[in-house]
Amino acid sequence: MEQIVQQIEAWKSEIDQLQISNATALEEYRIRFLGTKGIVKGLFGEMKNVPAEKKKEFGAVLNVFKQFAEEKFEAWKQQVSEGGEGESGLDLSLPADALPLGSRHPITLVRNRIVSIFQRLGFSVAEGPEIEDDWHNFSALNLPENHPARDMQDTFYVKNPETGGADWLLRTHTSSVQVREMEKGKLPIRIICPGRVFRNETISARAHCFFHQVEGLYIAENVSFADLKQTLYFFVQEMFGKDVKVRFRPSYFPFTEPSAEMDISCLICGGKGCNVCKHTGWVEILGCGMVHPKVLENCGIDPNKYTGFAFGMGVERITMLKYQIKDLRLFSENDVRFLKQFEGA
Ligand code: DAH
Repeated sequence: MEQIVQQIEAWKSEIDQLQISNATALEEYRIRFLGTKGIVKGLFGEMKNVPAEKKKEFGAVLNVFKQFAEEKFEAWKQQVSEGGEGESGLDLSLPADALPLGSRHPITLVRNRIVSIFQRLGFSVAEGPEIEDDWHNFSALNLPENHPARDMQDTFYVKNPETGGADWLLRTHTSSVQVREMEKGKLPIRIICPGRVFRNETISARAHCFFHQVEGLYIAENVSFADLKQTLYFFVQEMFGKDVKVRFRPSYFPFTEPSAEMDISCLICGGKGCNVCKHTGWVEILGCGMVHPKVLENCGIDPNKYTGFAFGMGVERITMLKYQIKDLRLFSENDVRFLKQFEGA
């Protein structure tokens, strides 16, 4: 009992030092000391453990403490309600708690940025299905069945309910959208095709079974390789800044001739050589070329009248370079600690 009496004294001085000026704190106090599971109730429950001859004395101590705690409560209650808060303790004139807002995914941010740069050059956005047929993803693009270049774009095949065969597939690039636009036969064409693409790849820091691309296509009379270079050079400067250098390396794509890959000077080391650029000073960012006459023909466009250029880039790649992200898997893991870093970007 001695101990309890001491504890009561301690609570008293704690209450004396409390400064309660709002309804929430007052309610907390009420629950702690005067609630049905509160301290005062608990003390009365101790009564049964007190020897009979001490019960009266202990009861008196408790009653004094109870009264003290209640008086304090009433006094604070008065103050709080005079302070403008209503009976309910709710002040409807206070601003609401801010809701936590989400933010855009880095892939979306960078895709939007790419799209808006090309829109300024007069390109418009074209979209197409993610489940494609063989023609739009491969054959029309000069990749006939058994062409070895198909190996580089192994994908997932889907059953076509009309034929019963697995002749649908998840598109491996958004070049299929270029085919669909060319087939519409409205020229000139100046489009970019952003979208999700799929490949049968082992998931690692550098590859995934799905990723995002932005491809572009410009077809008109007298379009030349010089137009291609200047367009892409403009894009890179807008995306990465005026100091970035570019170089074109000859390459091979079945749907373009000539074909090239474009590198930019490494942003991490400024071209001196580091891990990211594998000590070459350059990083590859896209494939491009002049649309192959066979592709134009396949899509019903006269290659003697029209020429065009095309290009395709991986959005993950550009994002990794722009924000120095080392592992591609971060983009699809939905870890808020990663995503939060792009708030307001
Ligand atoms: N489709 C190619 C790929 O996914 C990228 C590409 C290269 C697209 C050259 C083009 C192009 O339109 O002209 O690897």
